[in-house]
Amino acid sequence: MAELRVTLGPLQLRNPVLAAAGTYGYGLEFAESVPLHQLGAVVTKTLTLAPRPGNPPPRLVETPSGLLNAVGLQNIGLQAFLRDALPRLRELGATVIVSILGDSPEDVAAMAQQLDGAEGVAAIELNLSCPNLQDGSRLGLEPVRMVAQDPGATAAVVAAARGRTGKPLLAKLSPDVTDLAPIAQAAQRGGADILTIANTFTGMSLDPQTGRSRLGALTGGLSGPAIRPLAVYRVWYTARTVSLPIIGAGGIVRAQDALEFFRAGARAIAVGTANFADPAAPLRVLRGLERHMGRHRLERFAQLLGAPDPAPAGA
Ligand SMILES: Cc1cc2nc3c(=O)[nH]c(=O)nc-3n(C[C@H](O)[C@H](O)[C@H](O)COP(=O)(O)O)c2cc1C
Repeated sequence: MAELRVTLGPLQLRNPVLAAAGTYGYGLEFAESVPLHQLGAVVTKTLTLAPRPGNPPPRLVETPSGLLNAVGLQNIGLQAFLRDALPRLRELGATVIVSILGDSPEDVAAMAQQLDGAEGVAAIELNLSCPNLQDGSRLGLEPVRMVAQDPGATAAVVAAARGRTGKPLLAKLSPDVTDLAPIAQAAQRGGADILTIANTFTGMSLDPQTGRSRLGALTGGLSGPAIRPLAVYRVWYTARTVSLPIIGAGGIVRAQDALEFFRAGARAIAVGTANFADPAAPLRVLRGLERHMGRHRLERFAQLLGAPDPAPAGA
């Protein structure tokens, strides 16, 4: 049997396949049909200090090979998560990465501190890239900008969390930038251990007759197979510019897609939109990776990561 254990800086996972933030609830929603303890990790829906209702409906629109969402940050709040969901996730043996977002570095610091002492939290993922964040002004940003579109804000938010926790810290970046390198470097400077690349691409879908958005929040985030080549490129590009391990995400449906990300330089991957069609998608990807390793007589996942750099077609 292939050994899929993977080490991402200070974070050790039983395998490199994660359920992506916001597409698996708090994990418990799928616990009856999916053995959570078999996944590399479950990343929670992004939590905020206080509960939030999220955006008005409609929140989802299907697009060619993709999904446009404007769920917003509907969540139960960090306290309720720690009290009600985390103990059950611990019982189930799930590896839990808690995704958080604050309106200010102080918010993020306070959340990181609460999570630091929480048993059963393997790592913290900083969502620096929510396309539906309403107000960046407390971070000194234009209201429509995300933290991960500004190197200074990225370093400040990561440093705020780093100052309060020794847990492994993931920075989830936005693909919506001209150049990911300075943002990734800022995250590293702030003290991030791992990068998640990437969140959704900001998009818009309009009714051509009325000019109205098909989403209640006007704009949304595009995910699914439509964004895979864009995400693979960004992983490859960023892996060449920073030394931090990268978790790749964007349109992964099957093991072949995951392999593409590993070839690009990702050390682990997260499955998102595919979970809406099949909550067992991450497990299917995992089984496919095991078969691939078996076929190629690879005993350890590290051997798979040691593949040569991508080359042009015909080279
Ligand atoms: C409905 C929906 C909700 C999401 N919510 C979050 C979230 O709360 N926090 C976050 O960091 N990413 C969130 N994401 C982004 C995913 O975690 C993932 O980065 C992105 O969708 C790309 O992967 P995919 O194409 O496999 O979905 C959400 C995506 C979708 C489709």
